[in-house]
Amino acid sequence: MNTVESARLFPNLEAWDPAPLRKALRKGGFHKEALETLGLPEHWLRSEVPRAALLSHAPAGSAVDSLIRLFTLGDAIDGEDALHALGESIHGLLDLGFLTAGEGRVRSLYQILPVAHGWVACDLLRRQGEDADDYVMGVGPSSVLLRSLTPPVDGRVLELACGIGWLSGQLVRAGLPVVATDLNGRALELGRFSARLAGVEGIDFRQGDGFSTVAGESFDLIVANPPYVQSPGGNMVFKESPEGDPICARLLRELPAYLAPGGIAVVLLNWCHRTDDDWPDTPLSWVDPVGTRRWIFQSDCSSPADYAWKWISSDQRFRNEHAAADEIRRWLAHYRAHDVRRVSGGFMVIQKCEPGGEWTRTESRAAEGIHARAGDELLRIVGNETWLAGGHDLLETRFHVPDGAKAEVVMALEDGWARRTIRLTSPSRLSYDGQVDENILRLLELCRAGRAPAEMVREIRAKPEFSAMTDLPDRIRNLVRELVSHGMLVPAGTVRD
Ligand SMILES: C[S@@+](CC[C@H](N)C(=O)[O-])C[C@H]1O[C@@H](n2cnc3c(N)ncnc32)[C@H](O)[C@@H]1O
Repeated sequence: MNTVESARLFPNLEAWDPAPLRKALRKGGFHKEALETLGLPEHWLRSEVPRAALLSHAPAGSAVDSLIRLFTLGDAIDGEDALHALGESIHGLLDLGFLTAGEGRVRSLYQILPVAHGWVACDLLRRQGEDADDYVMGVGPSSVLLRSLTPPVDGRVLELACGIGWLSGQLVRAGLPVVATDLNGRALELGRFSARLAGVEGIDFRQGDGFSTVAGESFDLIVANPPYVQSPGGNMVFKESPEGDPICARLLRELPAYLAPGGIAVVLLNWCHRTDDDWPDTPLSWVDPVGTRRWIFQSDCSSPADYAWKWISSDQRFRNEHAAADEIRRWLAHYRAHDVRRVSGGFMVIQKCEPGGEWTRTESRAAEGIHARAGDELLRIVGNETWLAGGHDLLETRFHVPDGAKAEVVMALEDGWARRTIRLTSPSRLSYDGQVDENILRLLELCRAGRAPAEMVREIRAKPEFSAMTDLPDRIRNLVRELVSHGMLVPAGTVRD
């Protein structure tokens, strides 16, 4: 793909007044809340939902019907209907080149996607099927996952491979200075349009490959959802890198040099490996272990055939059965040639530290349950791992228990109701989601009441049947270590403080 700054899609963007469009979209009911009231969830407008299903929810001839046809389906609609739905904003959009008109009909060249608190602009889904290598995606499940994982860090932010900069906009709104970079100039233009529509000012958009536009700079937070699809090489810049460019490896190798001391990065990844057990090796090998704390989280693992089919079957370019069959053969030949037996997905967290302060954490769990604001938990885990590496007296430390921890009990009816399992979850389900026993619940309860884990040792020892249990302190220490490592206990200080 051409990395030279593309001719601007909207040369007059700075002179455009977005207020009339905002007003028309609101008045026409083309916003998240109103559409959900009609039975149209936000994600329907950004996925391949059949047009009949989309339109069946909007009263025929209404403004919202016109706006869905125009901005979701990309139809050429009657000029009178467009004028009715868009009011005076139609003129600005035509001048800008966002809409075109001819023979009494009006068409949008781009999609407008309603999202929480506003809208973003991106390419219409069907452009993907036209094999446009510079296709610009809107907000997808991976964008939402990265948003959830973004830790609340103060300081300079870099969003690498930012696309339309949806996340960057939210970080600027939170008061952070953000540099947003992407290879695709069209994505940045649609990002600038989206920022204007959202009333967000100050995202520093820069076009270029990887870190090329931020040479010599450092950041307190780097977030990235790069084109991580492990294909044999492709031309769709929003999801796959060209043949011979292992982009995830390249970005992770370079990344620590752009982190300020103590700075944190969160990068979504996919990667290839050989067995069910060697999954952490490859991504960990991409990041220099000296001067970094590394946490690799595997959220899924597939066979090459399943992985290839997942991407090919959802790719509009391979709708035709023969095209899909040729493409899957190409992917499988590539995996065979490189002895790839498994393909995993997940994310990597990196924190820059002084040599000597390093640690590595590997974790494998489904990520589906992770809640919208998991960044706090991510930060807590990083802090707790570092604290654990400091060799503290775990029995004599006081801990906080984060608000919102939940335990759910599953019971089975046998002779009577019998307790079967207890599932403990952290507030955002990132740091903990697993089965525990009553001892762990009791330990959390004691710690929350401000008592140190040594109390639990004394409490159990007071029972005659456990009084001679010599390994009890070690057992409790291990439970505490586990709970700290999972962010369920947060060190508050030692008892002697
Ligand atoms: C999966 S999209 C993510 C977009 C956005 N960050 C999000 O989460 O919605 C990947 C982005 O990486 C960009 N990209 C691809 N190759 C790149 C490269 N070599 N350097 C910088 N950005 C690149 C694409 O243009 C695309 O916008």
